[in-house]
Amino acid sequence: MTHQQELAPGPDHEDAAAASATAPKKVFMRTYGCQMNVYDSERMTDVLGSEGFAPTETLEDADLVILNTCHIREKAAEKVYSELGRIRKIKEERALHGKDTMIGVAGCVAQAEGRELTRRAPVVDLVIGPQSYHQLPALLKQAGKGGRIVETEFDIDAKFRHLSDAAARSAQPAAPRRAPTAFLTVQEGCDKFCTFCVVPYTRGAEVSRSVEQILAEASQLVAAGVRELTLLGQNVNAWHGEGADGKAWGFGRLLRRLAEIDGLERLRYTTSHPRDMDDDLISAHRDLRQLMPYLHLPVQAGSDRILAAMNRKHTRDDYFRLVDRIRAVAPEIALSGDFIVGFPGETDADFEDTMDLVRRVEYGSAFTFKYSQRPGTPGDLMDGQVDEDVKTQRLHALQELITAQQTGFNASRLGMTFGVLFERKGKRPGQLVGKSPWLQAVQADAPDEMIGTVQPVEIVEIGRNSLFGRLKAGQDESAGA
Ligand code: 5AD
Ligand code: SF4
Repeated sequence: MTHQQELAPGPDHEDAAAASATAPKKVFMRTYGCQMNVYDSERMTDVLGSEGFAPTETLEDADLVILNTCHIREKAAEKVYSELGRIRKIKEERALHGKDTMIGVAGCVAQAEGRELTRRAPVVDLVIGPQSYHQLPALLKQAGKGGRIVETEFDIDAKFRHLSDAAARSAQPAAPRRAPTAFLTVQEGCDKFCTFCVVPYTRGAEVSRSVEQILAEASQLVAAGVRELTLLGQNVNAWHGEGADGKAWGFGRLLRRLAEIDGLERLRYTTSHPRDMDDDLISAHRDLRQLMPYLHLPVQAGSDRILAAMNRKHTRDDYFRLVDRIRAVAPEIALSGDFIVGFPGETDADFEDTMDLVRRVEYGSAFTFKYSQRPGTPGDLMDGQVDEDVKTQRLHALQELITAQQTGFNASRLGMTFGVLFERKGKRPGQLVGKSPWLQAVQADAPDEMIGTVQPVEIVEIGRNSLFGRLKAGQDESAGA
């Protein structure tokens, strides 16, 4: 991979740096794709905050623009290039007023395109891959001296070490209060090599953070007011790290340890691979009241032939058995998933197997995608690519089925009372918005002081995008869940 290549000199940023000694600098961060990118964008914002950059939502005000990109589906890179075209115009407009604008591209498109990005879009000052965000301040300074910087090294250990140091540094009593929910990356990369997927190439091999690093960051977040943590990883349940005892821990054990943190009310994790749901992790769903009854467990397809072609390393029966084992210990759990329709070679009969699997499993929600050819993946070169029209028809049929299941699941909450973690004010005065244990949005009239607390709420109405509830006094979160 390319490493810090100085290409043609770019515009000189020295003047802007001098001017910014007086006015605070502003960064505009646009995030595409998965929750891992959301987490990475937050960390980049933190790192830049300590360099004096305040976040802005207005592109025209930004001294630094960062696009944190996603490469998982088609035309991702093209979208980034057209976005860069728009940003170039704003940069030119700002230049007329003597203001400099630095432009960075981060995330998986940065990793995949590398130097090509600065060739096709010379407006870009910095290309930075997902493993290098801890070097952002230093790289910006370098880019500020002129020249374009491309940094796409795979050194995830260094990134994780730095994240932990940053957590330790901000674990001061005066740490700013945060929203009640937060993401925490525990694992990055993937060794599974599903034949449709770019992740093993853009995020690299699977690496787990150590127990010590994760606990330090989790404790710091809880001390700053976080009540719900979502552990993130491309293959999160493949996490395996070294504990303080020097022994290898599995993901279930990590969850048990995190559940001991005082003040941490809720735990979630995403995304899981069916192959890595071991007994300890399954029984954690029975044992831990903090572990929410919602599990994203993608199966991708329902036909054994397609699952084999996808290199998923499990059959549909393996998946059914797994779902039975999970539901045996946690009957209230809602399952969610990802599905790809129109993988190369998928016949009507194969697709019907996917529909049948969905009917049998019954999902609380799920994401559906048309297969898109990704250069560099084995699927791209496979025979039997499916017509776009056929993909569209299958997508609609599957979406209709899943929407019906989701609507039914939401409706089944009517009259139930369960804990809602209030996250923020609602649109109407006096109203708060929070999440149910099953990740549904819930709105209820409640005082602002309840933000960041879990309160019992009785569901009185089912809306299209959220549930409406009424505060109930004197019951705990487990009620009705
Ligand atoms: N085409 C369509 N969907 C894809 N996904 C990953 N790669 C592709 C692709 N090439 C979907 C998978 C994965 C989710 C994050 O994106 O369903 O679980
Ligand atoms: Fe991609 Fe997930 Fe398969 Fe890994 S397990 S290759 S991240 S779809």
